[in-house]
Amino acid sequence: MHTNTNLENPVCTGPRNILISMKKIVIAIDGYSSCGKSTMAKDLAREIGYIYIDSGAMYRAVALYCLENGLISKGEIKEEELRKALESLEITFRKDPQTGLPQTYLNGTNVEKKIRTLEVSGQVSHVAALGFVREAMTRQQQAMGRQKGIVMDGRDIGTAVFPDAELKLFVTASDRIRAQRRYDELTAKGEPCSFEEILLNLQERDRIDTTRAVNPLRQAEDAIVLDNSHMSIEEQRKWLADEFRKATAE
Ligand code: DC
Repeated sequence: MHTNTNLENPVCTGPRNILISMKKIVIAIDGYSSCGKSTMAKDLAREIGYIYIDSGAMYRAVALYCLENGLISKGEIKEEELRKALESLEITFRKDPQTGLPQTYLNGTNVEKKIRTLEVSGQVSHVAALGFVREAMTRQQQAMGRQKGIVMDGRDIGTAVFPDAELKLFVTASDRIRAQRRYDELTAKGEPCSFEEILLNLQERDRIDTTRAVNPLRQAEDAIVLDNSHMSIEEQRKWLADEFRKATAE
């Protein structure tokens, strides 16, 4: 299993980069499905000139590989075949030169769109519950954070991947609000979807993510909780900027 990122640390210039600090830290953002972690992590990373890594994209890429290669069906996984395949799977992140947004590549192919489908969303928690998959991902994620200056979001970043992260956030919001946001997002993209199906999918993912044996989703003791059910993006951005300032104050 190879993962790497060539998302170079962007040059910190321009009016948005008002939060530059000399002290590089690791920022771990965990929380439930579809609570806006990725959006806030991406925004923050851009603002402060850090690398952003979407750890969920890595699990999604493995799930996609399983689906495309007949290794998973209705949550049943051919574990031995996957274990072998993992050794040669290559997951990388590259920036889209036009949008500047990170894109996930699986064995050299851009799979950013494919890993966001409901089909992948419906299977990924099963793949992410496997201990050997988590071990491989965790190793790679830790390697990505060695130089610090990174924002990583996921489910176990503050508890298992970076237990010593200087800033840990745990994000939550009510499940209906999260489902509504996801529904609006897909509808805006013109993708047909049903609110009920999305709600059931995220409730099921929450259930599997919080009850799995290996590194389940839970709040790290030293994490700061953010319930963004009734917060605007702008309010959230300000809150986050404040927490970052506090964490990097010397
Ligand atoms: O954040 P997301 O919805 O893209 O994550 C996809 C799945 O991967 C989700 O079911 C939880 C799992 N995941 C995980 O177990 N650990 C992580 N660090 C990130 C995601």
